[in-house]
Amino acid sequence: MQAEKKPMTKKQYFDKCKKFDNLRNKVASDPYRMKFHLQPPLGWLNDPNGLCQIGSQYHIYFQYTPFNPNGGTGLWGHMVTEDFIHYEEHEPSIFPDSSWDANGAYSGSAYEENGEYYFFYTGNVKYEGEEYNYITDGREQNVILTITKDGYNFSKKQLIMTNSDFPEDMSKHVRDPQIIKRGNHYYMILGARDLSDKGSVVLFKSNDLYHWKYELRFTTQDVFGYMWECPNYVEIDGKQFLIVCPQGIKQNGLDYANAHQCGYFPLNYKFEDKTYQLGEFCQLDRGFDFYAPQVFKDHKGRNILIGWMGMPESDYNNDKTVKNGWQHALSLPRELYVTEEGKLAQKPLEELKKLRTNEKKMEFNNELSVSTSIWFEIHVDFEVSRDFVLKLRESAELRYEEGILTLDITSCGSGRKHRGIAIKTIEDIRIFSDSSSLEIFVNRGEVVFTTRIYDSMEEFSCELKGEYLSGVLKYYDLTIEK
Ligand code: FRU
Repeated sequence: MQAEKKPMTKKQYFDKCKKFDNLRNKVASDPYRMKFHLQPPLGWLNDPNGLCQIGSQYHIYFQYTPFNPNGGTGLWGHMVTEDFIHYEEHEPSIFPDSSWDANGAYSGSAYEENGEYYFFYTGNVKYEGEEYNYITDGREQNVILTITKDGYNFSKKQLIMTNSDFPEDMSKHVRDPQIIKRGNHYYMILGARDLSDKGSVVLFKSNDLYHWKYELRFTTQDVFGYMWECPNYVEIDGKQFLIVCPQGIKQNGLDYANAHQCGYFPLNYKFEDKTYQLGEFCQLDRGFDFYAPQVFKDHKGRNILIGWMGMPESDYNNDKTVKNGWQHALSLPRELYVTEEGKLAQKPLEELKKLRTNEKKMEFNNELSVSTSIWFEIHVDFEVSRDFVLKLRESAELRYEEGILTLDITSCGSGRKHRGIAIKTIEDIRIFSDSSSLEIFVNRGEVVFTTRIYDSMEEFSCELKGEYLSGVLKYYDLTIEK
C-alpha cells in the first residue's frame, strides 16, 4: 500500500515557501518575538532534530512548517550558531519529498563517524481514506537515512526500516531514532506504542548501521502511558539515563500536570545483555511548555539539551503569536550534569553569559525590589529561605509556601494557570526572561520550569518578599550585540 497522493517535490516546497515569504515582516515585528531564543522565521516549529557540532558550527534542525503557524506536514528547518546567541537561518534541509516520508519528515538525530554525519529520521506516511484509525493501520513510520559531511548537503535518502521490521505486537507508531555505539556494535532506539497501548522504547542492534535486528524493549512493568516519544539515551559520569516523552499519563497531584510528559528513567543496562533496570521516572521540567528535548555531545564533551518550548494537545494556546504568523520556539540550550543524588540536572550553557550587561548586586533581608526590563537574568542565592513570593513580571509569580514551589501566570498565560512541585529547601533560583518566555532553574537546575508567557512587557519592578529571608540577588539585563 502506498500513500495515494504523490509527494511534493523539493522544488514545489521551495515555491510554496516563497509564497509565504512576504509574511516575514509581520512575524518579525511581533512584540512577542524573542531576543535570544531560536524561533521559526515564520510558521510553525516543534521538536529540535539532528543536533550536532561540525567544526566550529552547531547545527540545529527542527520540525518546521513555514507555511502554517498551526503546523502540518513538517520539513526540517535549519539554523546554525557558533555561540548559541546568534542564529543564522539556512534553507530547510530535509523535505517530505519521497514516498517514504510524504506526510512529514518527522524527528530524528545525527550520529557522527569518521567525519560523516548519519541522520536517521522518521518518514511519516498517512494513507488517504476514512477507514483508518492511523494507530494500527493507515500509516507508515519508516526509518530513513541521509548522510552529510558539512550539515548542508545531504546524500540520497535510503529506507532502512519500515513497520514490518518492527516487532509484531507494535502499532504503527514507532519513531524518532537515535544511535548509540558500544564496542563494535551500533544500537538504535525508537519511541513506540504497542498494540495493547503500552509505551516503550525499542532497541535494535547492527554491525554496519544499515542492517538492524530487534534486541529488546525498555518499558515499565505497569503501563506508563500509551506511547513514548523522542527517546534519548544519555550517559554521564558512568550513569545511564533514558529520556522519554510518555503520552497518556493521568495527572497525580502536582505531578504530570501537562497534556503529555517529558522526563527520564535512570537506566542500568549492559549492552549485550537481555536484561536491564529502569529506575523511577522523574520529570525534566515543571513548566507548561517543554517537550521532545534532544541531547547531543559537543566537541568539549558537554551533553547539551535543547527542548521544544511547546506542548502538544495542551488546553492553553499561543494565539497571540499565531495571529502574527508564527508559533513556538526552542528552549535555551542547557548542559546536563548528574547531582550527588544521581539526578539529572540542567544548567544554562556558559555561552549565555555573553548576553549579560548592567549587573546589579543586592543583599536582601526579608524584602527587596528591583526594576527590570523584560529581557533579564536574575540569580537569587538564599542564605535563609522560608516561605516567599517573588513577583517576576506583570502577574507572574513564583511562590514558596509550606514546601510547595508554585509558578502562577494565571492572568497572562493564555490559558496557563499554575504549576508546582514539593521541594524541601530552596537554595538558589536562576531566571531567564525573554519577550514571551520564562525559564526558571531552581537549586542548581535540579528543578526547572519552562513556559511561554504573554503580558504587556512593560518595565516592571520585581519584588521578593518573605518573613525569614536573606541572601544575595544579582540582576542582569540581557541584550544581543549585533
Ligand atoms: C514529538 C513528535 C515526534 C514526531 C514529531 C512530528 O513532538 O510527535 O514523535 O517525530 O513530533 O513532528
